[in-house]
Amino acid sequence: MNNENIILIGFMGVGKGTVARALVKQSDYFAVDTDDLIESLENKKIKKIFEENGEPYFRALEKKCALWCENNIKNSIISTGGGFYKQPNIKKIGKIIYLQSTFDKILEGIQSSPNAKKKLKKRPLLSNLEEAKKIYNQRVKEYEKVADIIINVEEWDENISAKKILDLLNK
Ligand code: S3P
Repeated sequence: MNNENIILIGFMGVGKGTVARALVKQSDYFAVDTDDLIESLENKKIKKIFEENGEPYFRALEKKCALWCENNIKNSIISTGGGFYKQPNIKKIGKIIYLQSTFDKILEGIQSSPNAKKKLKKRPLLSNLEEAKKIYNQRVKEYEKVADIIINVEEWDENISAKKILDLLNK
């Protein structure tokens, strides 16, 4: 049994937050974002946390956040950071929806957005695109493995993706 949450996972910039917002508009659900929770609690942007405290510190916060989600969040949408899928208790939190896209399409989406610079700047692991592609290639199979449902978001906009998710979950 899990807490009936809908958890969105996937690579950086694939549109987890955007799809979460569309889901909230199309349903009675409300949503939280794990990166937002961490940033507000630390009173620091993710980028600063990586710079000043290092990635292991961030991952420890993610772990605390995952445990907190398991024990406290019910019937909600949870949009996650791209590495959150590694949390060992993720299956206990809710149904896992993997938003799938190719690396090139994700980059295309970020680069064509009006605030492309900001989107790249706020993500420390996207500062070196060659390294980011390596991380993507390592993670692809792992995302698939942990997912309950896989939604290909390459060709759809967020409203269509959200509708598809709600239909698949009979919500
Ligand atoms: C990360 C993804 C980021 C953020 C952090 C680490 C990752 O979230 O949690 O920079 O390891 O993929 P987004 O997926 O929202 O960019």
